[in-house]
Amino acid sequence: MKRFLLGTNWKMHKTFDEAEAYLKKVRILAADAPAFQFFMIPPFTHLQMAKEAIKDTDILLGAQNLHWEEEGNYTGEISPVWLQEIGVQIAELGHSERRQYYNENDADLNKKVKAALKFKMTPLLCVGERAGDKQFQVTPEVIRRQIKMAFFDVSVQQSQRLWVAYEPTWAIGPSGTPASAEYVEYVHEIIREQLLELFGENGNKIPVLYGGSVNPQNCVQLANCKNVDGLFIGRAAWDIASFTCIVELLKGIE
Ligand code: PGA
Repeated sequence: MKRFLLGTNWKMHKTFDEAEAYLKKVRILAADAPAFQFFMIPPFTHLQMAKEAIKDTDILLGAQNLHWEEEGNYTGEISPVWLQEIGVQIAELGHSERRQYYNENDADLNKKVKAALKFKMTPLLCVGERAGDKQFQVTPEVIRRQIKMAFFDVSVQQSQRLWVAYEPTWAIGPSGTPASAEYVEYVHEIIREQLLELFGENGNKIPVLYGGSVNPQNCVQLANCKNVDGLFIGRAAWDIASFTCIVELLKGIE
């Protein structure tokens, strides 16, 4: 059985000094919780330092995005080659903030998934419906479309490196409402079915994480949901005290 995944995307937070101090504490936290596979997704500018800060641990390092081309005239973009050079292991792709504010679309995400695979990173694909999709009950269609397009033409063999995170837009951030355990089970089952449809039995091996206002109050219930293989935590993990609290609570459910 794979270890339960626990990680955080820092978004655009933490100065260099704050990041260094935080990672020192995460090292200690992870060393004391070997049942979990930790991963950290800092901003690009902090990756090199973060790699050093988590040296000799098995904490995985991720980037928040990448460009699908190796090089070219793409001002402001980040080549997958550079990420590989740093030793980045995960490429977070399609976070709802990127879809919402930077027009990231499913066709481009397919190119990014392939670039991540080519450069030996784990694509961590974020999928999730908007509040309006939920209201009009088209969540299954939205989620299936996002997965089918992003993973189009990915082979069964390559699928073994994929991760998926279910992050409904309406659940994310300070104004978000966390999804209920019941709703998370409902959507995670749809995700699992779609992965099985694409990759046969191998679809069962792809971890599916939940993210969106995970906190000390709801983490145990969410982690206990069927088909939840990890938690992808935002603001509740950026503060080491609350992250520690979540880890301690989750230790109880092993
Ligand atoms: P949040 O962020 O936990 O602060 O809601 C989650 C995410 O965006 O991954």
